[in-house]
Formats: sequence, C-alpha cells, structure tokens
Amino acid sequence: MATIDLTRRTMLAGTAVGLTLSPGLVRAATKARRALPKGFLWGAATAGHQVEGDNINSDTWLFEQVKPTLFSEPSGSACDSYHRYGEDMDIARNIGFNCYRFGVEWARIEPARGEFSNAALDHYERMIDACHKRGLAPVLTYSHFTTPRWFAAMGGFEVGDSVDLFARFCERVTNAFGDRIALAATFNEPNVVYHIRSIPEFKMVAALAEAMKSAAARASGSDRFSSTVFTDPALFETNMIAAHKAGYQAIKAGPGDFPVGVTLAMTDEQGVGAGHLAAQMERERYDAWLKAAGESDFVGVQTYTRNLVGPSGNLPVPAASEKTQMGYEFYPPAVGGAIRYAARVSGKPVYVTENGVATEDDNRRIAYIDGALAEVRKCLDDGIDVRGYIHWSLLDNFEWNFGYRPKFGLVSVDRTTFKRTVKPSALHLGKYAKTNRI
Ligand code: BGC
Repeated sequence: MATIDLTRRTMLAGTAVGLTLSPGLVRAATKARRALPKGFLWGAATAGHQVEGDNINSDTWLFEQVKPTLFSEPSGSACDSYHRYGEDMDIARNIGFNCYRFGVEWARIEPARGEFSNAALDHYERMIDACHKRGLAPVLTYSHFTTPRWFAAMGGFEVGDSVDLFARFCERVTNAFGDRIALAATFNEPNVVYHIRSIPEFKMVAALAEAMKSAAARASGSDRFSSTVFTDPALFETNMIAAHKAGYQAIKAGPGDFPVGVTLAMTDEQGVGAGHLAAQMERERYDAWLKAAGESDFVGVQTYTRNLVGPSGNLPVPAASEKTQMGYEFYPPAVGGAIRYAARVSGKPVYVTENGVATEDDNRRIAYIDGALAEVRKCLDDGIDVRGYIHWSLLDNFEWNFGYRPKFGLVSVDRTTFKRTVKPSALHLGKYAKTNRI
C-alpha cells in the first residue's frame, strides 16, 4: 500500500510543480482514483480574525496589544479579507472547490453588549451571497476562538449569562441569512485548550498567559478577562457545552434547514508500550464534546498530527521525525484515526473541517494532502460517513500567537500589497476536488 501511494504521490506532485509527465501517465493516475459520494464537500477554510484584519473589538485584538503578551506580533490588517473576500472566493472557485468555510466575527456583529451592527450583518450576508454566486456552499463558523472584548471582560464562558448571550448572537446571525447557509458549526475547537495545556512549553508560558489576561482585564476596567484558549477548561466547559446546545437550538429555530454541529481539535492518539494512556487521553480531550456533537447533526474533525502516548502520558515527537513549522510531527495519516474516533463516539456524520500543514515547502504540503486524502479514502471504504474535506487554510494568515511566520496556506499573501499567489498545492488539491475522486 505504501509503495502504491508513493508512486501516485510522486506522479501528481510532479504535475503540480511543472515536471514533464506524459498526459497518458497523468490520466492513468487520476483514473486510479475512485469516485466519492455525490455532494461531498471540497474546500478550504479561513477564520475571521485570522484573515479579515482590524478586528478591534475582539478579545484577541486586545491580547495582541497589551503588555505582557503571548502574541509574537499583532494581527493588524491580516489579509484584508474583510474587503477582499470576493477575490478569495474567486480563487477558491478556480481551484475547483465547491464550498468555502469562513467565520462571522461576534465582535463586529455585537461590538457592545446588546448593540447589534446591521452593517456587519449585511457584510456577512454579502459574503454568503458571494459564495452562492460562485457555486460555493457557505460553511459558517459562528465562533472561531474570538469573542467580543466586552464578553471576555464580563467573564466569558466562565459566567452563566454567556449561554443566553451566545444563543442570542446565533439567533441574530441566523435570522439575517440562515436561509442561505449550507452547513454550520457553533464553535470552532472549543476543546483546543486541552491540547494547549498538555504541551511541555505551556508550563513555561502559563504565567505569561495569566499576566496577559490580567493586563487585558485592567485595560478593560474589569477584574477579569476570560478566554477559552488561555483558561482552565474546568472553569468554562460546562457553560460552553450549554452554550453550544442553546446556540444549536437557536439556529435550528431560525430560517433555513442546514446541518449544525461543532468542530473539534483532534490529534490521532496512538498508544506506545504496555499500559499506555491513549484511551484516557481520548476520553479527556474529546468525549464531552463528542457527546455534544452526538446531540447535534455532525462533528467537524480538525487534525494536524498524531500524539504518541506512553504509560505516563504524552511522549515527545520522535527525534527522527520531520517536523512542521509548528513543531508538530509531519504525519498526514493522523486524520484517519481522528475521523474513526469521532465517528465512533459521536455516531454522527463527519466533515473534515480543517487539515493541513505549516510549511514553507509547498511540495511537502502536496505530500501531506495525498497522505491525508488516502486516509479519508480508507475511512470511506470502511463505511464511515465522511462528507467533506476542507483544508486549512485557503490563505497564509495570522496564526494566533505565532503571528505570520507559519505558512498553512494554499495561497500566499504579500504582507504589504495583499497580493494573492496560488501555490501548486492548491492546484493539486483542486484536481481531487474537480473530479470528486480519491
Ligand atoms: C484552528 C485554526 C488554526 C489552525 C492551525 C486550528 O487549531 O482552528 O484557527 O490556525 O488550527 O494551527
């Protein structure tokens, strides 16, 4: 199997980077792929704060500005996608995608508690319509890590009010254009905090994260400033699950009839040695949210690498392994393990809503895509209900506290002119998308 994969990968990677291959060979390679179910979603994802620019009323904008901060640089104008979304969608369509995943920014829609911006809602409605105009199904994220600054200063999901406030926000958004949404997640990776807190470096930066939150609280005239990324999940998880459920109900009660779920940050937990704790790791990181997804319509799987787990917990990345710009192990098959676990525990259809690799070497992205899609194929062959593959990310963008250095994009963005340049990996993934075959 590995040999076959390698042959196919080499041939197609060669096509994308412009090596000369006979058309017959390329046709044979593409033919060897098999058709996917009709309606399978192919696309790429972005998130408001990471691409729009100037998201000044958000908690994260403030985190970037205060001292001390964990952020290596501020997001600034990001990719200016707030204004250039049409260009981004043109690119997505030309690549061959049939969907585009993006997020609405709560901080723009409700910049002050109870004050809703019709202009911001109109903006996102225009984005939804712009997707349809190009034949792209709009896949919407209601909340992708960021919250309005006032919400964080109020205590965020640590306080009970948060449940109704989030549901009200979901209701407003859905009322504005729910009739045109194709698929939606309430939250993006509400469990990411488990991953962040388990990396060895977190212990070194935990105090800095607390100092950053205190500085944000002071700057907001509050005694608190919560964040689902930098706060102990024991303080907010119960409320956030309740908010997901209330958001789900609010969305379902509104116009439109589209699947609503939640996306999760998942590594493929692989046990090493007798008495390993992989199953425990899976339960801790995923089960509460997979159960919540099980009461929704689908689960979004977002996987970048595997996690080796020994008898006393997580193990370091093997010294011989290739590492990505994030320091993760380059391990494309990880998505398969994550899909299987998510499907089994939630009992719901799976969409891969993020999968990708941070690298300056686009040939490695091509190899990553081939490796990951081979696993998606295996999952489908085993009868798992996988309904889409959405790559992270359409654009090189603001990678949170890492700033602009990690390159996850299928498309690069000039930091000064915002000029977009399509990378060979985009065309490579586009071939799968256009033929709907893996
Ligand atoms: C997040 C994205 C992020 C990506 C790459 C996911 O955790 O949803 O916002 O940029 O991973 O790190």
